[in-house]
Amino acid sequence: MLLNKINEVRAEVKRWRAEGLKVGLVPTMGALHEGHLSLIKRAKAECDKVVVSVFVNPIQFGPSEDFDKYPRTLEADTTLCDNESVDIVFAPNANEMYGGGRLSNDTLTYVCPPYFFVDKLCGKSRVGHFDGVCTVVMKLFNIVQPDFAYFGQKDAQQVIIIKKMVKDLNIPIEIIQCPIVREESGLALSSRNKYLSEQGKKDALVLNKILNNIKSCYKKGVTDIESLKETAYSFLTEKHELEYLEIYNCNDLEEQKEANDESIALIACRVDGVRLIDNIYFKEV
Ligand code: PAJ
Repeated sequence: MLLNKINEVRAEVKRWRAEGLKVGLVPTMGALHEGHLSLIKRAKAECDKVVVSVFVNPIQFGPSEDFDKYPRTLEADTTLCDNESVDIVFAPNANEMYGGGRLSNDTLTYVCPPYFFVDKLCGKSRVGHFDGVCTVVMKLFNIVQPDFAYFGQKDAQQVIIIKKMVKDLNIPIEIIQCPIVREESGLALSSRNKYLSEQGKKDALVLNKILNNIKSCYKKGVTDIESLKETAYSFLTEKHELEYLEIYNCNDLEEQKEANDESIALIACRVDGVRLIDNIYFKEV
């Protein structure tokens, strides 16, 4: 069932709750692919009712980012959700979510995650991005009031920040983190892969190669963070504009001197003008 209005979703979920049903939420920005579908399938397996939200959230895009150009494919998304027997596709417009006013933190209440978690990785180049993410996710949590909410490890910093928000604000929702879905080539699925040329897709494989190589060096006994990071340079060409490559603790994004089984390597790189991210846990979780 496709719903656009907050009150309609609320009324439906209220009926489910009255019957004691477990509700799962999968927040997305649409342009659904197998990565999203893995979250939806998991939610369907674990919950009685599943809501998928499809909302390209304006407040998480910077002024020079791809908000206008972000792929919007609601019809196809709804068909995919129907095929998975999703109970509600919630696709509000910006007016429904934020009212008609100016979208800024001098007129709207924002949820701002702590500086320590945002002043690194994607948060460094995407200033305000995680404020926008936490704000919309909090709103979705309050609208749907699910028991479980599903997020991908693909956006590792995002899911770490959301877990932190849930803990700090005592939100009674369990966050389920799902593994990264990749193409056979190793490329992590992303809605932004649509912007890549055929050659760009090949060049993009470097992200996964760098991460796999770092992990295999670690498995062979290299633990010095700088040495591990340096192994990346032999893979990079003039086609790759590296934004960051970091190795942190996977639970709290603390810096480490020596890698261990709690390490995660995270990379952001522009290929073909398209900004791509990927990451790998040193120990599979
Ligand atoms: P979006 O990019 O549409 O992603 C929705 C969810 O799908 C996120 O939890 C993301 O980590 C997950 N996902 C994307 N690609 C994946 C892959 N290859 N494997 C596994 N999971 C994958 O992330 C957002 O939207 C937004 O920031 C949102 C949380 C909806 C807030 O607006």
